[in-house]
Amino acid sequence: MAEILPPNMLNERPSTPAGLLSSREKDRLIERGFLGLYRWYTARSQETRNWNPDRSFDWKALSKDLPPEIVTVTQGFFAVEQYAPDFTSSLLNLVRRSHGRSHFQLRWGSEEEKHADAWENAVLFSGKRSPQWIAEYKERLKSQTWELPFPDAIHNLVYTVFQERATQLNYLNMMKIAQGKSDKPHLADFSDPVLAKVAQTIAVDEAAHYNFFLEGVRMYLYYYPQRTLEAIKNVIGQFSMPASALVPDWKEFSETVYRAGIYGPRDFNRDVMQVVFRNLGIESRKALEDGIKKTREVPDFDGYNHKGTAIFDTFDYGMVEGDVKRLHIKIQDYEKEIGFDMIDPTEFVENPAVPEAGAKSSGQAADD
Ligand SMILES: [Fe+2]
Ligand SMILES: [Fe+2]
Repeated sequence: MAEILPPNMLNERPSTPAGLLSSREKDRLIERGFLGLYRWYTARSQETRNWNPDRSFDWKALSKDLPPEIVTVTQGFFAVEQYAPDFTSSLLNLVRRSHGRSHFQLRWGSEEEKHADAWENAVLFSGKRSPQWIAEYKERLKSQTWELPFPDAIHNLVYTVFQERATQLNYLNMMKIAQGKSDKPHLADFSDPVLAKVAQTIAVDEAAHYNFFLEGVRMYLYYYPQRTLEAIKNVIGQFSMPASALVPDWKEFSETVYRAGIYGPRDFNRDVMQVVFRNLGIESRKALEDGIKKTREVPDFDGYNHKGTAIFDTFDYGMVEGDVKRLHIKIQDYEKEIGFDMIDPTEFVENPAVPEAGAKSSGQAADD
C-alpha cells in the first residue's frame, strides 16, 4: 500500500494494517475471555473445592511423631503460603481495571489463604512447634512484604503459571511421601493419612490455579505472540519460588525439600518447565530462544511486517488456537446454562494475523 499513498498521507495511515485486530480489540477479547473463565472458575470452585482448613481434616489424628524433615517442609509450605495477603494485594492492584482478572485474584486469594491456614494447622498439630514459637515465626515472616517479581501484568501472569505448577508439584510429592511411597531411605517407613489428605487437597487447588493462569497465557500467546514469548523467556531465565528471599530458614527448607525428593532444579526442568511448554505448544527452551532471536533478525519493510509472521514459527499456534477455541466453548456452555448467551455472549474471534495452515511466514501480520 505504501507506494500508492501520497507522501503527505503517509503519517495518516492507520497503525493497524487493514483486516487485522487492533490492540484495543485484542485487549477487549482477552478481557472477555478472562471474565467468562472467571465466572466458570468460581462456580466450579464453590461446587467442587469448597473445603475448610479446620473442619475438612481430622487434625487430632495427625501423627505426633512426624519425621523432623517433614515438619521442616510443612513449616516451609506454611511460610510461603502465609504471604497470601501480599500476593493477592500486589496482583490485584496490577489488574484492578480488569473485571475478570481482579475478581479472580480475590477468589484465588481466598483459596491461597486456606492453604496458609491448613499448613499452619499441620505445623501446630504436629506438636513439634509450640504455639508461641509459631506466633513468633509468623511475626518474623510478616515483618517482610512480598513484592511482585516483575513490574508488568504479562510477566507476572506468566510467572504465576510456572509458580502454580511448581507449587502443585511440591504438594503432590509431599502427598506421595505421606502415603508411604517415598523412595528415600530416611522417609521410607513414614506415612500419615491426614497429612496426605492435606497435601492432596491443596494440590488440587494449585492445579485449578495453574489451569486458570495457563488459559490466560494461551489467550495472550494467541493474540500477542511476540510479547508473550519474550515474557516466557524472561521468566524462566530468573525463576525462583515465591518468598524464597523472605523466609528466614529458606536454605534449610529448600535443602530438605530437595533431599526428600520433593523438588529441585531437575524437577523444575522436567515437571514444570517442560509441562508448561507442552501446554503452550513450545518445543523447548532452545526453540523458544532461537525463535525469538530469529524474529529479531527478520527485516521489516514495505509496510509488511514479516516479524509478526515469523513469530508464529516459534510455537505451535494451531494447537494454541485450538485451546483458545476450546476455552471459549467451555465459557459458552456455562453462559448457556445461566442465560448470558441470550444477552451478552462471549465469542471467539480469530486472530487474522495467524498464517493459514501450510503458509507459514508469508503474508501480512500485525506487530504486537
Ligand atoms: Fe497455594
Ligand atoms: Fe496457588
